Amino acid sequence: MNASRILLTGIKTTGTPHLGNLAGAIRPAIAGSLDPDVRAFYFLADYHALINVWDPAALERSTLEIAAAWLAFGLDPERVVLYRQSDIPEIFELTWMLSCLTAKGLMNRAHAYKAAMGANIAAGLNDDPDRAITMGLYNYPVLMAADILMFKATHVPVGRDQLQHLEMTRDIAARFNHHFGEHMVLPEALVGDKSAVIAGLDGRKMSKSYNNVIPLFCESGKLRKLVMRIKTDSTPPEEPKDPETSTLFSLYRAFATAEESTALAERYRHGIGWGEAKQQVFECLDAMLHEPRKRYAELTAHPDTVETILCQGAERARAEARPYLAELRYAVGLRPLA
Ligand code: TRP
Repeated sequence: MNASRILLTGIKTTGTPHLGNLAGAIRPAIAGSLDPDVRAFYFLADYHALINVWDPAALERSTLEIAAAWLAFGLDPERVVLYRQSDIPEIFELTWMLSCLTAKGLMNRAHAYKAAMGANIAAGLNDDPDRAITMGLYNYPVLMAADILMFKATHVPVGRDQLQHLEMTRDIAARFNHHFGEHMVLPEALVGDKSAVIAGLDGRKMSKSYNNVIPLFCESGKLRKLVMRIKTDSTPPEEPKDPETSTLFSLYRAFATAEESTALAERYRHGIGWGEAKQQVFECLDAMLHEPRKRYAELTAHPDTVETILCQGAERARAEARPYLAELRYAVGLRPLA
């Protein structure tokens, strides 16, 4: 297939997918995969998840739920190469090669590592700032570089927090090319627009770490309860309200049509009770989730279906990874003698 762009992104298999993931990652990634000029590689970053998740059942469950969520929202596994990172041993082999080229000092500067060390120092552990920090966390950016470089990705959709990792990937790839010849493609980050970031129940960015998420797949009753919990102020029903500063409205706008959003904004300005506005947002979300919910239930009830899809994806991914890794091994001098 001749595509001018290779899109690749990884989804860490930690936790249960929520509305923020849908708006920020799942929806734009599926839309991107429909471009005929694009080849898309999307994978479950379970090796990355293992850094934090030391609960085997939780890791397995999250892998199933995240794969099922992407499929339920319409990802077409014929079109997209969908695979599990840990099914591709070539990625791990490349990680070692890249580790041998990566400056330790570069890794010392990684935001996540510095934050973990900073937390130790803040806790008074001045004599052991690396306490409980694993080599997995420290090497995270090298593994991520291998993920990306393995498939010669040209564009990598990521959140803003991942930009440093993309810079590091480019650094490592450039160093490889400098020493061993032009074998690697330097990728560009594709950062989604700000409107794709949605607010959670408390008004802060929707995120597992803030414990303010609305899961994608809960039943209607639970969804309604959560929507009713979204933070509002004490403006009485008849008073005008500003849609632009309303968490509830921003959630609606992310999932309703443009006309629906304009109509609700209009009602805000004329005064609408929070209870009524919440009911409307709930109904919109509930309708949007109706079909995906059914597909998700079907898929999670049949993990073998998901497993087959992932194995097929892994085969397709490895068909690219194997010959490329052979090329790279040769390039660095890991060669047969005769
Ligand atoms: N680090 C990414 C995140 O936390 C996940 C990830 C792993 C990734 N490997 C990747 C993203 C490769 C893009 C490309 O979101």
